[in-house]
Amino acid sequence: MFLQRRQQLFTAMSDNSVAIFCASEEQVRSRDTEFPFRQDSDFFYFCGFSEPKALLLLIKKAGETRSVLFNRSKDKLAEIWQGRRLGQTQAIDQLALDKALPIEELNEHLHLELEGLSKVYLAQGRYPAYDQHIFAAIERLRNGLRSGWQAPTQLEDWRPLVDEMRLIKSADEVALMRKAGEISAAGHCRAMRSAKVGMFEYQLEAEIHHEFLMAGARAPAYGTIVGAGDNACILHYTENQSVMQDGDLVLIDAGAEYQMYAGDITRTFPVNGKFSPEQAKLYNVVLEAQIAAIDMLKPGASIYDANQRVLNIMVSGMVELGIMQGDVATLIEEEAYKEYYMHGLGHWIGLDVHDVGDYHDVKRTRPLVEGMAITIEPGLYIPADADVPAAYQGVGIRIEDDVVITANGCEVLTADVPKTVADIEALMAS
Ligand code: GLY
Ligand code: MN
Ligand code: MN
Repeated sequence: MFLQRRQQLFTAMSDNSVAIFCASEEQVRSRDTEFPFRQDSDFFYFCGFSEPKALLLLIKKAGETRSVLFNRSKDKLAEIWQGRRLGQTQAIDQLALDKALPIEELNEHLHLELEGLSKVYLAQGRYPAYDQHIFAAIERLRNGLRSGWQAPTQLEDWRPLVDEMRLIKSADEVALMRKAGEISAAGHCRAMRSAKVGMFEYQLEAEIHHEFLMAGARAPAYGTIVGAGDNACILHYTENQSVMQDGDLVLIDAGAEYQMYAGDITRTFPVNGKFSPEQAKLYNVVLEAQIAAIDMLKPGASIYDANQRVLNIMVSGMVELGIMQGDVATLIEEEAYKEYYMHGLGHWIGLDVHDVGDYHDVKRTRPLVEGMAITIEPGLYIPADADVPAAYQGVGIRIEDDVVITANGCEVLTADVPKTVADIEALMAS
């Protein structure tokens, strides 16, 4: 998988060039403890190595290609205190490299690896500390012209090339994303079964994370959102500290990260296990829109097309329920719905929850092709002080699934968690 990706990038690179990828940096959490380490997605994409303090060089010279890694050396004492290190010898073998060098000796070796190349591909600015080492190595070559050294003269960002590669998921990636979807769904099902009036939002968060960890997904793919009542109207609410009240809907947006791939699911359900008639009506507007959008997904369709369908259904629904007044087409034209639906319909998903890849424009009109993975997540958020019938005030509803585009349609990766009123109520009662 990793070799194939390197080959694909080598094909796109110009001759006599190197693409440099940096490992993530460890982040201090408190004094001498760090946040759990999470590898840089692009670095990982090309070598699968999950240690910090590493650089990957993919070198194409005179038609020949080489993969060179700088990584931490074996160190008995450090490994007793901080954990195992792969070291250079094993790295060559396990990661299918041509060469591995100690990162501790970066400044002695890096310029020699870059010598004679014309171009450096680099995501300049992402890791300023590594940029400094790289530019120092280039400068050293420039100053060594009398020794016959040749310094690269061109700098290019590899992101446009790599983002396009990552946008199209291989069968192996889809398999991992399917698993991330299944684990995420299991977390949501557990939350539905556990919810009770009087619980804290963070207690549902705990149920979800328990399910993730038990299934081998060691971290959520992003900060878990559990918002009951009008907390659901705060799009990135992660405080999760309120007590859930009788009559509240609770919105949960949570996804597991499984072997680096993200799941991203939202479900909204009644804390007491039973939707009120008004809650069910508004919920069904969002559900109808979400299902209609997913039904449209196939090669050639776009997130924009699906969102137009969503707008029609949701604005018509809000007019019928007395939440909005006026002509549906005009309300859409004038974007009056943005008061209640203020985010996009969906985003690319993969190694990053908001994955890389060009959308073509802000409306997301890019035609979908087989292998693209996206979320579909329409929502309606009615503030507590909105001038609408009282039963709809302070209600936030979002329904989100992850989808991969197939040859003639799509596969929903997160279908294992119920989303109809009847199915949710049945699971909660079970
Ligand atoms: N959980 C982030 C999102 O839905 O985009
Ligand atoms: Mn989400
Ligand atoms: Mn999402």
